[in-house]
Amino acid sequence: MAEPAARILADLAARGRPVGVEVLAPYDELHAMGKAGTDGLAALAEVTAADRVVDLGCGTGGPARRLAARFGARVHGIDRHRGWIAAARHLTVACGLQDRVSLAVGNVCDTDGTEAGRFTLVWTQHVGMAVADKRAFFATARRLVAPGGRLALFDVLRTGADSPDPAFPVPWADRAADSHLIDAETLTRGLATAGFRVRLWQDVGAEALARIEAALARPGLVTADDGPALTVGPDWPERVRNLRDGMAAGHLTLVRLVADPV
Ligand SMILES: C[S@@+](CC[C@H](N)C(=O)[O-])C[C@H]1O[C@@H](n2cnc3c(N)ncnc32)[C@H](O)[C@@H]1O
Repeated sequence: MAEPAARILADLAARGRPVGVEVLAPYDELHAMGKAGTDGLAALAEVTAADRVVDLGCGTGGPARRLAARFGARVHGIDRHRGWIAAARHLTVACGLQDRVSLAVGNVCDTDGTEAGRFTLVWTQHVGMAVADKRAFFATARRLVAPGGRLALFDVLRTGADSPDPAFPVPWADRAADSHLIDAETLTRGLATAGFRVRLWQDVGAEALARIEAALARPGLVTADDGPALTVGPDWPERVRNLRDGMAAGHLTLVRLVADPV
């Protein structure tokens, strides 16, 4: 069994909790605000059972399974991390969602093997910050979206072009060289260049910061043995604190948006 999946399933078994999308959320929703973050973006994008979704940078597949379970959408997840795709496949079968969720190893900057224009919703959460080649990333999103479809994105942004980096590690990068944060203007311009017009934009930095502060204050939630630590690693609390510090200093914020192909 894929290693993170084995750790997660063993932890759930030790707690006597049956496997399902809801109980997996603390382990497999690998972005700020957890399942509430996914639900917030899904509400903004108005996900329905008719949607064919591609989740770019799907991690261990938590959001993909949530969209399939809550809305009945069909979701195809792509991630470059082989071990996480293996875990995602295992957890998807454990949830009985393999008929609605498919998963593939791949680079979000180069998805030539994936059929163009096939997806009514291109979905991505907390991936852009780790992608250096934004042009290729946004071009992929534009290539995959169906006519009349939309892009839904949830990412950490710099509050200004010159805002300093946070301390490292952070949830998306071990060191500065692996982090590629941009500000709102650069994001909007990049999307426009790729052929998207932003229709809905929500800055949820204040809400996210309050949630992170609350989690850090609650013993057992952001500790070395909580859910994300079983997937990401034991330095998870340090990563969360560094994100919190960058947000509290006013250097970073969180934005979710929906953009239409033009
Ligand atoms: C912070 S995790 C978020 C995972 C998932 N979107 C979620 O919200 O639970 C970022 C993910 O992006 C993936 N990723 C980063 N750059 C990528 C790339 N160029 N191609 C494919 N996946 C990438 C990483 O492997 C990781 O799984």
